Amino acid sequence: MGINIALTKGRLEKEIIKILDKANFDTHQLKDKGRKLVFKDEKGNINYFLVKAADSITYVEHGVADIGVVGKDTILESDNNCYEILDLGVGKCNFIVASLPNENLFKKIGHIKIGTKYPKVAKEYFKKKEMDIEIIKIEGSVELAPILGLCDGIVDIMETGITLKENGLIVLDTICEISARIIVNKASFKLKQEEIKTFINRIKKVI
Ligand code: PRP
Repeated sequence: MGINIALTKGRLEKEIIKILDKANFDTHQLKDKGRKLVFKDEKGNINYFLVKAADSITYVEHGVADIGVVGKDTILESDNNCYEILDLGVGKCNFIVASLPNENLFKKIGHIKIGTKYPKVAKEYFKKKEMDIEIIKIEGSVELAPILGLCDGIVDIMETGITLKENGLIVLDTICEISARIIVNKASFKLKQEEIKTFINRIKKVI
């Protein structure tokens, strides 16, 4: 039957290919991909797609991909209905709240604005803190928003912390740790049980 796997392109891509290599899957097409987006591992009977993180979940959710490899940040931000099977232990980051040093939004009285690429994660975090905030959705370079006065603070992912530091922002709180995960479509998990288990067991052995 074969299995279809949605891989997240960008930051996680190299880490994921390294793991596939270690597990002895055929990744030569993935490494020398040019602008191609679909790749075959003839031997393993696997099709790989390279997609953006959120789309990886969409493909798995709709059963077009049986398996997805995607960051926990994207999983937390989505309303997905897939099984999360395995933590790959790569792409490790933290979800953080940050602001300019003189702007402690936890002590601020009045209207608080939070800039973020992750409105759902931010909303849930501040709801737990019983803080009523306004979310301003930003698509990238989130660190810029408080500097320009668009918001009082941000919710974002931090890996090395360099972007925050170089832009004069400080971490006020860590929300949770994140890393790359394997997710599986629920129907595929039943219908392609053997192939999916074999794939995951090979990965488990090398992480
Ligand atoms: C992410 C994140 C931070 C940065 C953190 O952005 O949103 O901006 O990486 O990394 P660091 O702690 O190692 O400095 P990304 O590079 O994905 O780009 P974007 O801001 O355009 O989304």
